[in-house]
Amino acid sequence: MAWRSVRALILVISVLLVATSLTAQAVSPHNLMPVPSSVSLQPGGLALDARFGVALKGHRDPRIDAAVERTLQRITTMTGVLLVRTGATPRLVVACDHGVNRIQGAVEDESYALRVAPDGATLNAPTPYGILRGLETFLQLVEQSPSGFVVRAATIEDRPRFPWRGLMIDVCRHWIPAEVVKRNLDAMAAMKLNVFHWHLSEDQGFRVESRLFPRLQGMGSDGLFFTQAEIRDIVRYAAARGIRVIPEFDVPGHSSSWLVGYPELAAGPGPFEIQRKWGVFDPVMDPTNEQVYRFLDKFFGEMAALFPDEYFHIGGDEVNGVQWKANPKIQAFMQRHGLKTPEDLQAHFNTRVVAILKKHGKRVIGWDEILHGNLPNSAVIHSWRGPDSLAQAALGGYSGILSNGYYLDLIWPASRHYLVDPMGKRAADLPSEAKARILGGEACIWAEWVTPETVDSRIWPRMAAIAERLWSPATVTDVPDMYRRLAVISRWLEPTGVRHRANYGPMLDRLADHRPTGALEGVVDILEPVRDYNRGRAVAYTSLSPLNRLVDAARPESDKARDFAQLVTGLLADPARQSNREVIATWLQVWRQQAQGAQAVLDSALLQDAGPVVKNIEAVCALGLRALDALDKKAPLAYGADDREALERSLKPTAEVHLMIAPPIKKLVDAAAGQAGR
Ligand code: ACM
Repeated sequence: MAWRSVRALILVISVLLVATSLTAQAVSPHNLMPVPSSVSLQPGGLALDARFGVALKGHRDPRIDAAVERTLQRITTMTGVLLVRTGATPRLVVACDHGVNRIQGAVEDESYALRVAPDGATLNAPTPYGILRGLETFLQLVEQSPSGFVVRAATIEDRPRFPWRGLMIDVCRHWIPAEVVKRNLDAMAAMKLNVFHWHLSEDQGFRVESRLFPRLQGMGSDGLFFTQAEIRDIVRYAAARGIRVIPEFDVPGHSSSWLVGYPELAAGPGPFEIQRKWGVFDPVMDPTNEQVYRFLDKFFGEMAALFPDEYFHIGGDEVNGVQWKANPKIQAFMQRHGLKTPEDLQAHFNTRVVAILKKHGKRVIGWDEILHGNLPNSAVIHSWRGPDSLAQAALGGYSGILSNGYYLDLIWPASRHYLVDPMGKRAADLPSEAKARILGGEACIWAEWVTPETVDSRIWPRMAAIAERLWSPATVTDVPDMYRRLAVISRWLEPTGVRHRANYGPMLDRLADHRPTGALEGVVDILEPVRDYNRGRAVAYTSLSPLNRLVDAARPESDKARDFAQLVTGLLADPARQSNREVIATWLQVWRQQAQGAQAVLDSALLQDAGPVVKNIEAVCALGLRALDALDKKAPLAYGADDREALERSLKPTAEVHLMIAPPIKKLVDAAAGQAGR
């Protein structure tokens, strides 16, 4: 392919885009994410040179020392300025008022005040948590200026809107090892998130070493589990970053992997196997069996000692009741105790489990199914099926957090997650004492469709938009500004170690069988994986299938396609926008050429399903160019059955990906076909 001509076209696009953005204001806006409660920018900045030093005042805490050291290292990575530690001039004074309890609580003071001026900076906070959050903001103010790297001058007062701001990672359906967890903890800290919810047991895997019940991991994990030493290390790593770790052991359902080694806990006959597919399965614990509670007492006691947080997640979701209904002994128990439904029986089970965990010093959190029967008010309700359960829980005297609307595995655009608010929908009308029980939210990444290679790109950068929703004032809802900052933050997150961008190149390289990937990248850049629960419908997978196809390389949100769609909307709203028209035409030419260029690697075994996608791109780009022509001439687009079919084809998912430029091209075509002739 004439790659040089594509480069020339891209240069044209850049020039046109710069020309259209020259109207931007003289003082550039900040790129802070999450947006602080109050920020005022001043001209100039504090120089970052080799003699930049930090002075610590007030309460001392090892977490502050370590965070300052990490901050200095990050500055070195970002700027290339080798900071001397000894003999440096203190240009940042960090002052912490007082200490905190040894174990981070669910509600802590994380506020801070940061003042950066050309002659020095101060960071003040009541607690070490505020210092940690403030240092992250300080880092986000670092930028290049004509005189070298500076920290932008600013006055910032900041505090979180919600105390509970989390990310749940499912490490079970696909195994996610310690190093991947750790790099995501670093990125979480950078976004001021403070809860890592660790989904540790599932039908597809039991991921923790138990010394008391070694057949849990021994028979339920394919050898892929965290040792207790690794758990302790990760808990320490998170705590140093002001992140609580809440383990989840999902009971009584989603428990096939427990039952492989301990079938005596089950309500149905074994033997049991690790599940290799996705969904809701029948194997479930027997709530009428005292042995189950003795087991859980010992096991939860062992885990309670590993996980210092006050909260302990018991799952509780998606119990289908099949094995309970099929077991006469269980049915007789239910009759004797007046338990009419499986939900009643689960509530009975939960009451026992809550008491066991209370004995081990833990408060229970569980998915919203646990909100049934006489659940003690100490339990926290984790709303996943809809926002109503959160409001219902809050009215009923329970604390709650929201995850409905924050499922990253559903591959929604950041904007859609961003506008979901824990205080939205029914919660908005709650009395204030009920509102106060809504503690925040957690994003979730369920691991059906992720591997250690792809999980970061399914979390980041979209997670940052959710982090902003949970930290920043409710009034921060400007979607275009969120996307502007998200693009910066996505790159900025790289030094934390997350590989949401870094793994893209190697994946493309593998897809292309190690031949040049420039054209293929252009193709994959405008694709998105199918959304919601539509993956695996057209292709049969098991948990052992490799996830290394086109759909796995495609990022959840195509920035190029979103920008393109905006250009089209702008042009159709105002046909006089020649600059939009030129950029649209140039992109259509670029993508058509890239699709042609990508043909050269389609013989790769890993691109077997990519042919139709590439053909669709060629077809819609050609059609889009004809539509632009027709719009120029104000003559109706001659648009035949073949064109219509090609467009329809490209609007449907192919190879489990959406061609994200197809909908805006359809708009162009509709406008061009619908216009009356001159
Ligand atoms: C869930 O998504 N089943 C909590």
